[in-house]
Amino acid sequence: MKAVVLCAGEGTRLRPLTHTSAKHLIPVANRPVIAYTIEAIRESGINEIGVVVSPNVEEEFKLALGDGSKWDVQISYILQESPKGLAHAVSCAKEFVKNEPFLVYLGDNLLENGVTEIVKEFQRSKTGASLLLTEVKDPSSFGVASLAKDRIVKLVEKPKHPPSNLAVVGVYLFSPTIFEAIAQIKPSWRGELEITDAIQWLIDQGIEVRPHLVKGWWKDVGRPEDMIDANRLILEKLELQIFSEIGQDSKIVGRVSIAEGVQIRASELRGPLLIGPGAVIENSFIGPFTSIGQGVRIVSSEIEYSIVMSGASIEGAGRVDHSLIGRNVRIFRGKRPPETYHFVIGDNSEVRLV
Ligand code: G1P
Repeated sequence: MKAVVLCAGEGTRLRPLTHTSAKHLIPVANRPVIAYTIEAIRESGINEIGVVVSPNVEEEFKLALGDGSKWDVQISYILQESPKGLAHAVSCAKEFVKNEPFLVYLGDNLLENGVTEIVKEFQRSKTGASLLLTEVKDPSSFGVASLAKDRIVKLVEKPKHPPSNLAVVGVYLFSPTIFEAIAQIKPSWRGELEITDAIQWLIDQGIEVRPHLVKGWWKDVGRPEDMIDANRLILEKLELQIFSEIGQDSKIVGRVSIAEGVQIRASELRGPLLIGPGAVIENSFIGPFTSIGQGVRIVSSEIEYSIVMSGASIEGAGRVDHSLIGRNVRIFRGKRPPETYHFVIGDNSEVRLV
């Protein structure tokens, strides 16, 4: 069985970060989101993965993931020339999957417990399709399923009045009949070929579509706050690990992971906190639930519940909370000190605090 990971989305809600990077390559706990997806797929026993990308991010993905050998999987790249919807993205993978059942995984979804259970169940049951679902408070921004016994009987995309609170999580198992379904559907009101409509077509043909409920947490990291929260969820399982010398003038509390070549002076670090290689932390308070990327410099600042990406420099920023700070961003103090800040800043931005 093969897997198809959809990464062609534009990531509009994560601009400006997605002007310079695909959202699937933004780091959560210092690793690109898609690294978790690849590992979940490999764990389920699948090692041939087709990554569907748009032409503008193809090179970036190839650089980041290569041929997949660092994960012990085989990665192929499939181009989706224009953003015509999830069903269209799946149809681009037809040549790659050939005439076999396959897994589709939306590359911006993180799952605490991976996809092994649903993959195994699908392989045993040999149904037409199987979908991962989860209960959410407000399902109106997702695909929503209605069930009858152990079958999905209706699917609607982003309904104003959801028929249930069961949201479609971005993991689907399909038999090749899905390609026939995609060929039959028409674009939705937003001009896209919706995968939900293709699955509804299967249901209307009497093909069995089974639900599988998520156990553990699920995050669709489409917005900055989702990225920051996903970072928190992953750091919940962080273990204490220190690979650099910490001076007597600094204090470490809780589960902190510090990579090699990190310099820490006159600071307090509170876990869960992850610090990447070569970072410099001086006269600062950092954590909890924070990831500090490679080569980041933080001086005379307090940073909590945030992601700071590689190469960023933050000096005299006061208290920074709930922030997603892009690569090589520079924040430094101007003349007047404000109290707190809330940042969502793209790669290579420069912020001057006055
Ligand atoms: C897509 C699907 C939707 C699903 C969601 C999960 O929506 O169309 O059915 O619930 O992913 O993340 P999108 O994120 O493209 O708006």
